Amino acid sequence: MTTPRPETLAKLTPVLTRRWLSPDAWRIGGYEKLDGYAALRKALRAHPDDLIQLIKDSGLRGRGGAGFPTGLKWGFIPQGDGKPHYLVVNADEGEPGTCKDLPLMTHDPHSLVEGVIIASYAIRASRAYIYIRGEAVHAARRLRNAVAEAQAKGYLGRNILGTGFDLELVVHSGAGAYICGEETALLDSLEGFRGQPRLRPPFPATHGLYASPTVVNNVGTIASVPYIVLGGADWWKSMGTEKSSGPMIYSLSGRIVNPGQFECGLGVTLRELIELAGGMQPGHQLRFWTPGGSSTPLLTAEHLDVPLDFEGVAAAGSILGTTATQIFSDQDCPVYATYRWLEFYHHESCGKCTPCREGNYWMVRVYRRILAGQGTHEDLDTLLDTCDNILGRSFCGLGDGATSSVTSSLQYFKQDYLDYIEGRTAPKLSDKQLVGAH
Ligand SMILES: Cc1cc2nc3c(=O)[nH]c(=O)nc-3n(C[C@H](O)[C@H](O)[C@H](O)COP(=O)(O)O)c2cc1C
Ligand code: SF4
Repeated sequence: MTTPRPETLAKLTPVLTRRWLSPDAWRIGGYEKLDGYAALRKALRAHPDDLIQLIKDSGLRGRGGAGFPTGLKWGFIPQGDGKPHYLVVNADEGEPGTCKDLPLMTHDPHSLVEGVIIASYAIRASRAYIYIRGEAVHAARRLRNAVAEAQAKGYLGRNILGTGFDLELVVHSGAGAYICGEETALLDSLEGFRGQPRLRPPFPATHGLYASPTVVNNVGTIASVPYIVLGGADWWKSMGTEKSSGPMIYSLSGRIVNPGQFECGLGVTLRELIELAGGMQPGHQLRFWTPGGSSTPLLTAEHLDVPLDFEGVAAAGSILGTTATQIFSDQDCPVYATYRWLEFYHHESCGKCTPCREGNYWMVRVYRRILAGQGTHEDLDTLLDTCDNILGRSFCGLGDGATSSVTSSLQYFKQDYLDYIEGRTAPKLSDKQLVGAH
């Protein structure tokens, strides 16, 4: 284990995570003692449009993967249209490797509830939903408890803190499908339909939940709002980089000594994060990693000093995504890792469009063949050709994301594929696992 140097330790900027070690922060009393609901009192004294402007000025970008500017999204909601407006928090967190929203909701659920109330006030919504995946029973329980506590204190419900603003907040548990994290599939699921993406346009900003103007934001995005209201846009921008402002929760998993959540200003590097996590596990050398979950193209040891912000990761040929950095070593096989991810995408494909439904089905079979030592050189062309027919031709981002590890592992680790095909690496799958692979 390596001890982080003081200059690396200084990279930690606990903002959203700062209450996580306080044992009673999840109860309203503990939360209030630590500045809880102070931002709400301040926000309710401001004009809603000024709050939208504040979020625009802060440069906050969505924490759900795409990094869309949050203030701009809120500004798209048509005002004075006479329709109900909705805020929907995306708490589905299904991307493999991603684990930042669940700890936030279990350790500090009121920060999300407070963010929901402020955001709803800003966009003039009187009903909000938190859509949480069904398996996360513990987090849903904490959230429901937080909602009940906030209601009892007059932070939710009718005439909040005597301001005349009403808000009902519903915590809705989904059934646990990755596609229900895609915002329009989420809205269909919330409406009681099978979760499948909707054709866009129209976008949720005008035709979202129940065909009404809707903002869909990630848990981390909404939980950031109270801090920005209290600290101001300039303080928020003092962390991170020029175009990627603020702190970000990086989730480190894999071959490091201390896996977990590390909150740093956007733009920290993987080299620094690994140092914060106590270094690589003894006997392991970094070989490949995902910067933001399994839908983001793999990077390698060459990329240790890439700034992990939206622009830096894009310039290195990948995507910042959910900042779920999964770290693999020289003892891990990129072909096998890619195969396991593809099994996931194949299983989770909603089946609505042909490139994703069929393409992932076939790619899984090609991988099984390669990993069973029965692959051919043509299989590598077939994989690239299939990715070419999925990427940009799928109905939603699930299909695109499925191709990321395939194309990037072939780019950086073609030799590993050839070693299976040419018999230098022992097969990882047996003939029994080959059903349907030819
Ligand atoms: C297949 C798929 C799964 C997704 N899963 C999630 C998720 O679990 N949580 C999330 O916040 N965003 C997820 N997204 C992104 C959402 O569609 C949407 O961009 C996001 O919720 C917007 O919030 P933000 O602007 O605050 O990032 C997913 C997208 C796709 C294509
Ligand atoms: S890309 Fe996949 S998940 Fe998305 S609509 Fe098509 S089949 Fe469904």
